[in-house]
Amino acid sequence: RSTGFPQEIIQCPRAEGACKCNGWKSQNPPPTPPRTDQQSSTVNLQEPCRSCSHTLGDHVTHLENVSEEEMNRLLGIVLDVEYLYTCVHKEEDADTKQVYFSLFKLLRKSILQMGKPTLEAQESPPFEKPSIEQGVNNFVQYKFSHLPSKERQTIMELAKMFLNQINYWQLETPSQRRQRVPNDDAAGYKANYTRWLCYCNVPQFCDSLPRYETTQIFGRTLLRSVFTVMRKQLLEQARQEKDKLPPEKRTLILTHFPKFLSMLEEEVYSHSSPIWSHDFLAGAPAGQIPIHTVISAPPVARPLYYSTSPVSVDPSTCGSVIGEKRKPSEPLPYEENKRPRVVGDIPMELINEVMATITDPAAIPETSLLSAHSARDEAARLEERRGVIEFHVIGNSLNQKPNKRILMWLVGLQNVFSHQLPRMPKEYITRLVFDPKHKTLSLIKDGRVIGGICFRMFPSQGFTEIVFCAVTSNEQVKGYGTHLMNHLKEYHIKHEILNFLTYADEYAIGYFKKQGFSKDIKVPKAKYVGYIKDYEGATLMGCELNPSIPYTEFSVIIKKQKEIIKKLIERKQAQIRKVYPGLSCFKEGVRQIPIESIPGIRRLLTVLTLQKEMKDPDQLYSTLKTILQHVKSHPNGWPFMEPVKKTEAPGYYQVIRFPMDLKTMSERLKSRYYTTRKLFMADMQRIFTNCREYNPPESEYYKCANLLEKFFYTKIKEAGLIEK
Ligand code: ACO
Repeated sequence: RSTGFPQEIIQCPRAEGACKCNGWKSQNPPPTPPRTDQQSSTVNLQEPCRSCSHTLGDHVTHLENVSEEEMNRLLGIVLDVEYLYTCVHKEEDADTKQVYFSLFKLLRKSILQMGKPTLEAQESPPFEKPSIEQGVNNFVQYKFSHLPSKERQTIMELAKMFLNQINYWQLETPSQRRQRVPNDDAAGYKANYTRWLCYCNVPQFCDSLPRYETTQIFGRTLLRSVFTVMRKQLLEQARQEKDKLPPEKRTLILTHFPKFLSMLEEEVYSHSSPIWSHDFLAGAPAGQIPIHTVISAPPVARPLYYSTSPVSVDPSTCGSVIGEKRKPSEPLPYEENKRPRVVGDIPMELINEVMATITDPAAIPETSLLSAHSARDEAARLEERRGVIEFHVIGNSLNQKPNKRILMWLVGLQNVFSHQLPRMPKEYITRLVFDPKHKTLSLIKDGRVIGGICFRMFPSQGFTEIVFCAVTSNEQVKGYGTHLMNHLKEYHIKHEILNFLTYADEYAIGYFKKQGFSKDIKVPKAKYVGYIKDYEGATLMGCELNPSIPYTEFSVIIKKQKEIIKKLIERKQAQIRKVYPGLSCFKEGVRQIPIESIPGIRRLLTVLTLQKEMKDPDQLYSTLKTILQHVKSHPNGWPFMEPVKKTEAPGYYQVIRFPMDLKTMSERLKSRYYTTRKLFMADMQRIFTNCREYNPPESEYYKCANLLEKFFYTKIKEAGLIEK
């Protein structure tokens, strides 16, 4: 800035007249005599302009009343303009050059107009939702929320490290990408590349442009275009620099980071991963710690010339930009507390309190998971986490060179199946295991195959046929069969096939039932007849998958929920056993009081009612059935008959976390879900509360909810389910 007033600010006011000078620094300035240091830092405004010969002072008359702050801002833009000018000249890539040039013009315009640079031609950020940051947050939640807090912290650190890497990642130019991935959506990539240059990359070295983090304004599309290359480069770099890593980061970067990236990769490229769903967080369990990246100074000094080749990343500095943390014991974040509470809801503070004891690793020691009550797949899951066992989907391919290790595993699978399914001809097993249309999810222990599930996918028919399923004899009943099936389920959710069909051996029906299979087949017959192989003496069984269930983690989640409920019950019981002080009102002359007003009696009555309900479930069932029938046939019941359709109520499922309707209630009643009147009343209440939350008070729906609610409470009072 010591060189004085660059051309963009100094414009000869006589330019409107005869003077054409647009700046002090002309394109071809006459040779300047060498200046002393002192000379170079001051400017004599009486000096004539080297371009137009008017005085330099003439060029700055419009800046006389400009504040120093504004002057500095303008000078900041001038520096950026000069910098961009160099970039435009040095850049070889045509697309990048064009963006630099547009930004150069934009900044120049804002100097002349003394305004703020705004990128009008571009749509404004964010460009995709959920953002990369949100997606990674969801991923951590989805895959690791069951871990003890210490391990979860490690995962959070990896996630932050990864997000920071993206924020400083140098995208490849559209032409580099076209060469590498010719079939990609070139126009889409170019649009994102331009946005990235304008909003994330150039602002890193041009302070006058507003800067955004890549992870906050881009979503899955951009992540998909960088992930594979980025992952490869990061791992390579970590390997090359492993000796330079500080010891405390070694395990994190060399062991955990590669696994983390592989797991994330699956979710990034999967078509059905729930982590990109808009309402993912709506159902998030408590204890989640959001990960944020924060805008910070770039880890490198302002480069002289910003190269388009990938930047070097030093893993030892990874994670140095730490975002906010929420301690596990802190109350639940976001709208949770703002949501209207519904009758029967447990106070959030109480859940937070209970969660704090449960997420504490000391509360559920790992060994206790392996007690008699532990889930069927618990031991297998722990072994997988410790690296004792591995799961791989493998198959024989006619297109790829045979891989020796995979061939060995296929032979191993053929042996396991032949031993465990003695009634199947060995040749037949061999043929299917090695058939390129079949794949096998194999279970590997100590490098050897100990079990597997051979399957054939029929994507066009919407199902997969499970052909063989077996675990070697000495490894059975250890939970491997269950964990194998859970992995197979997750694999299929990722590939968007949500139905399994299998002909189960008569001895294996029990196993399949425990894995959620039933003889009630959901796939229409026309879809599978002629596709699936028919086996004599075997029973056709099917299993419908729910894409929102993380099957391999399911039992852990259930276990955690059980723990919460157990703790809540313990607290309730502690209250019930409370000893109240004696009544003093009689001493004061009162002769009679209603029985319910005696402290503790109301609670006792509730317990007794509950006990009664448990003793006579049939009576409760028929009472609830009659009430439900009345509600359904009430003239104001029509809006609540069926689940709300997404198409009819936009954004409904983002607003309403626990939808409920009369049809679902009928199904729940039929399946004997309502073991207490409270469960029934809570569901009904949910219908009214949801309606009032989503609809405006003047709407017809809102009015229907009020009237039906009144009617409902009259009916339950009549039935003696609550006091009159
Ligand atoms: N009948 C009834 N229940 C069974 C059977 C069976 N044959 N096999 C396992 N189970 C039960 C287990 O007891 C366990 O239940 P629990 O937790 O309530 O005790 C549950 O099923 C799952 O146990 P896992 O330990 O997860 O399963 P495992 O590792 O033993 O593998 C498998 C199960 C694959 C069936 C194994 O026992 C096996 O290889 N059996 C011989 C081969 C076979 O029959 N395969 C199926 C043929 S049908 C077909 O391939 C399409």
